[in-house]
Amino acid sequence: KITPRVFSGMQPTGSLHLGNYLGAMVNWIKMQETHECIYCVVDLHAITVWQDPAELRNAIRQVTAAYIAAGLDPKKSILFNQSQVSAHAELAWVFNCVSRLGWLNRMTQFKEKAGKDREQASVGLYAYPNLMAADILAYRATHVPVGEDQKQHLELARDIAQKFNNDFSASIIAEGFADGIFFPQPEPVITGAATRVMSLRDGSKKMSKSDPSDLSRINMTDDADTIAKKIQKAKTDPEPLPSEEGGFSGRPEAENLIGIYATLVDKPVDAVLAEFGGQQFSAFKKVLADALVAKIEPIANEIKRLTGDPAEIDRILADGSSRAREIATPIMGKVKDIVGF
Ligand code: ADP
Ligand code: NA
Repeated sequence: KITPRVFSGMQPTGSLHLGNYLGAMVNWIKMQETHECIYCVVDLHAITVWQDPAELRNAIRQVTAAYIAAGLDPKKSILFNQSQVSAHAELAWVFNCVSRLGWLNRMTQFKEKAGKDREQASVGLYAYPNLMAADILAYRATHVPVGEDQKQHLELARDIAQKFNNDFSASIIAEGFADGIFFPQPEPVITGAATRVMSLRDGSKKMSKSDPSDLSRINMTDDADTIAKKIQKAKTDPEPLPSEEGGFSGRPEAENLIGIYATLVDKPVDAVLAEFGGQQFSAFKKVLADALVAKIEPIANEIKRLTGDPAEIDRILADGSSRAREIATPIMGKVKDIVGF
């Protein structure tokens, strides 16, 4: 029987930002108390666009440090980097042959990331969602905590799992899976008031590491002064804060700042609005900046401390990779039997 298992990952490109943290990692940290969790630094995904090798190596350690500093415990969860477990790439190839061109053509993130000169995008960038399906299903994971922007990719992973089960159903049954189900349908876990954290400069764009303006995002390595300055400069509107959720219509910046605060202090948006409704942004922004500094400053300090000892980070990754291989290698072995290798 398929047991509940959590898988998720982040790319080692640039430093992690508040969107990554509130949109995904807050749930990762909660779930490690209740589930078997596997958290990956997805370095294979990173090279879908050019990465300088020395910087990539450094970024892998940097993101690993951020995972640990934010509260992921390498004793409770498996922390590792994708390239060290060959099942990801092997299963991705099988999925390249299960997935359909028409399915990938619908992926909106490729259209955004490929930009205008699509002919020059790497094949890897195009096939990225197939690799993401392989990341999850190499562990037969059932729950995937991610931000809202990954919803479409998760739907594709479910379609791939289902098509694999259908295409190979006779072989799956012959291999001893009487119900014909080898891969589970992985479920997205997209919960909280900050599943889509928006840019601090433009409420219509998501907070992203690829935004050229550093004022648009809070980095997990920002110091207290930088955080205070960015919040002070964050775009708002002239109205006071609404006292109920209906009051957000046409006010994406207000909704974003309240969602950030609610998630940070782990309170429902209603409760936050009951407290701050009717107040001016100037007062609320001070409270928000203080809450951000209280959360992020210790994480930033811990990232700095951890990255001072790269050998220790490499040791944690090597240990996590070998634990990940213990789960993925037999699953990949079964996939080979099922496919006919
Ligand atoms: P990025 O989108 O910055 O390139 P990744 O693709 O590595 O980062 O995403 C890592 C995780 O962070 C994913 O679960 C993604 O959904 C989440 N995430 C990224 N940006 C945001 C955001 N602005 N709001 C909420 N979640 C986000
Ligand atoms: Na993303």
